[in-house]
Amino acid sequence: MSNANKNILIILTGSIACYKACSVISKLKQQGHHVKVVMSPSSLEFIGKSTIEGLTGEAPITDMYASGNVMDHINLARWAHLILVAPATANYINKIAYGLGDDLLTTLFLAHDFEKPFLIAPAMNTKMYMHPTTQASIAKLKQMKVEILETASGVLACGEIGSGRLLEPELIIEEVEKQLGSLTYSSGKSPESVKSNSIKVLVTSGGTSEPIDDIRSITNKSSGKTAALIADSLAESGMTVTYLHSKTAVKSNNAAADLSFETFKDLQTALQGELKNNSYDYVVHAAAVSDYTVETQTGKINSDLPELQLTLKRNPKLINEIKKLSPQSKLIGFKLTSTQDESLIAKKVRSLFEVANCDLVIQNDWQNIKNNNYTYRIYGNASDFSEIEGLQALCGTIFKHIMKTKGLV
Ligand SMILES: Cc1cc2nc3c(=O)[nH]c(=O)nc-3n(C[C@H](O)[C@H](O)[C@H](O)COP(=O)(O)O)c2cc1C
Repeated sequence: MSNANKNILIILTGSIACYKACSVISKLKQQGHHVKVVMSPSSLEFIGKSTIEGLTGEAPITDMYASGNVMDHINLARWAHLILVAPATANYINKIAYGLGDDLLTTLFLAHDFEKPFLIAPAMNTKMYMHPTTQASIAKLKQMKVEILETASGVLACGEIGSGRLLEPELIIEEVEKQLGSLTYSSGKSPESVKSNSIKVLVTSGGTSEPIDDIRSITNKSSGKTAALIADSLAESGMTVTYLHSKTAVKSNNAAADLSFETFKDLQTALQGELKNNSYDYVVHAAAVSDYTVETQTGKINSDLPELQLTLKRNPKLINEIKKLSPQSKLIGFKLTSTQDESLIAKKVRSLFEVANCDLVIQNDWQNIKNNNYTYRIYGNASDFSEIEGLQALCGTIFKHIMKTKGLV
């Protein structure tokens, strides 16, 4: 079984040996793994965020309460096939052994699924390593089936000679590969992935664009960022995702299939084709579809005219066609409102349940987005909703909804 392309979460804590962890990160990336890094505030005293971003292509995660990342302690734990703490300080080892969870790093351990490997590579002064508290914590963690890697002996950063030095990067990598190779699930994915990998999801993303003439067009501001994140998180959890997106939308890194559209007509044709030819379990319809198509003029409209009239023709609501084309699919619809009028919001949400036959509706308001506030209302039916905050929470909610309705959790 190949071990490449696994999701590895690396936790860095505050030791001089952080520089050695960079070599571990770099080698795991070169081997084709997806690597994400969480850093303690102390570790940032030893190496910078840019070094990690340069090595992994992604900024390290440092704050549990950063807006948009508040569910990281759950989502990262779920995403990872393996977690490696290197270097692990005495402080971190002692804290997690006693169940503390006062930051992202320790909470990740509390949220750990013991079906997956959790490796700790200690790095500290010999006295700290041999301290009865540290030794008791190591013994406690071993009982929990945490893999505590050996330390190397030699001259330590503090000038003392003895054990406690971080294991050499090559030996850490060997251990990681060994642990990945012993994953019991044959696809090498997490147990949740194994359960979810037969689920087929179509995610639509970005905004349609309607030509005015051969040069110009009218479009909307949808970037596809939310839908790309949803597609990636569902694909990372093992689902088979088709990402149907506008040409300018944010791309998905993990979707199994990638299709693009430009106009309303393109999207309609692509949707009809996909829904007729595939049996999707879920459609997450997040694309912002033009309500009107312009009566297009050929060539380039004269730009000297003092006034210009365009004729716009109403488009049908694509979301209303989805269940008709694919009755077995469950439908997750989005409603972007631009009002504080609760009765109007309720009416728009109700129409998505009653006319489009949605199974879940996600509503947010333009005013919130403008203020960088990612608050979403999640409706399981036309009258009840719960409120969540942030994109990660939204991805987690959709994942849980799918797993629950499939009877997998
Ligand atoms: C120069 C320097 C080097 C350090 N090296 C280590 C080390 O190798 N191992 C260790 O356990 N603590 C070491 N510490 C102490 C930790 O940085 C300190 O306990 C910190 O609170 C750990 O926080 P963290 O576990 O959240 O990263 C060092 C401190 C300094 C100033």
